[in-house]
Amino acid sequence: MIKQKSRQVLVDLEYLKIADGWFFQPAAKPELDISNIAEGGLGIRHKPYWLAYSRDGAAPQSVTSENMILLNSLNPGIKYPKTSLDSLYGEDRIQGLIDQKLLCEATDSLPDHHDWDPLARLYYNNARWNETNLDGTEFAQSATLNHYLSNGRNSAPPLTYLPNQAKSSIPLPSGTFNDFDSLLRKRRTCRQFDSNRFVSLQDFSSILDQVFRFTSTISTNSGLTLATRTSPAGGSIQATQCYILVQRVNGLAPGLYFYCSESHTLHLIGSNHIDSSEVQNLSLATRFLAGQEYFANAAAHFIMTTRFDRLFWKYRGHAKALKVSYLDAGHLGQTLHLAATNLNLGSYISAAVNDHLIEQALELNPAKEGVVALAGIGIRI
Ligand SMILES: Cc1cc2nc3c(=O)[nH]c(=O)nc-3n(C[C@H](O)[C@H](O)[C@H](O)COP(=O)(O)O)c2cc1C
Repeated sequence: MIKQKSRQVLVDLEYLKIADGWFFQPAAKPELDISNIAEGGLGIRHKPYWLAYSRDGAAPQSVTSENMILLNSLNPGIKYPKTSLDSLYGEDRIQGLIDQKLLCEATDSLPDHHDWDPLARLYYNNARWNETNLDGTEFAQSATLNHYLSNGRNSAPPLTYLPNQAKSSIPLPSGTFNDFDSLLRKRRTCRQFDSNRFVSLQDFSSILDQVFRFTSTISTNSGLTLATRTSPAGGSIQATQCYILVQRVNGLAPGLYFYCSESHTLHLIGSNHIDSSEVQNLSLATRFLAGQEYFANAAAHFIMTTRFDRLFWKYRGHAKALKVSYLDAGHLGQTLHLAATNLNLGSYISAAVNDHLIEQALELNPAKEGVVALAGIGIRI
């Protein structure tokens, strides 16, 4: 089991303010209403309320219309003495809003996530998983597609696509085929890794060298050091980091490692949050991969994270910056696939991962660094 950290509890709040990072949506729930029957209705009325979505990704909370009016009467830039809010609105009501994290302790320090575009952060956190299990024992595309059709969906939009505005067609010559074409065509997602065979340390290191190692570094006048890899990266920021869950690599003890892209060195992570038997029996990888057992069996999993604090230092509050981090990881994923294929190894990439769980195991601060995808290598059956 991943061990839980005890939660910090705020005590003795003196000043309160409206917590930022909440997004509200109107909602209504049906309620029994006798007076409605007397009026010839069905005895039901719809009571309006609000759903509050936190950009920290927690499940949405209900907020009464009355409490929305209360929150709306407070100025977001002002600190309110808790005692005056208590006497104005009642202690229980104010405590309820503190418990819901809609009111919080007023401090002058900036929150960790202040460099995020607020809507990007809302999207990001609401797409994150903690303990999802996709029941990966029977991955069958056809079963999935039949499921869609049997659930009342129309047939899928066709594969062949020409936009309406496309004019006459111009035939093109075929590509010239060379070794690079064969490599591209040989690449396939592997879902059958040999659980008895180890990847050599040489192959493992070659992949890290070819995919994640910095190929050059560039110092700028602004004091920001940029770098290149074999894959392109937005602004050369290289915010993507590589952690590795090693399962079967010759000469390496199974466990969690960090790869330093500058020095091409591996660093064992002394995480207090993982149980080594879970690494050995693959259950940690299975949980990381939301139950996708066919991937969990890989010899090594490359956990790609983005250092949001570094990326957003340049792209501060920028709505496009999150997209850059996903594209960066996608490029690294394809390079990893090709590097593995070149060594006759199987490989995969997946975004269907339990973000919270992995971040907890790696002891990351999710406002500053978060998981984007897992990729893996191993020997194909
Ligand atoms: C961003 C991304 C996420 C993916 N996530 C999953 C996944 O969660 N589970 C899975 O079985 N395959 C996943 N795949 C693999 C695709 O299903 C696979 O690439 C596709 O079926 C085409 O097969 P090929 O890679 O052999 O060409 C993912 C691929 C990409 C590029």
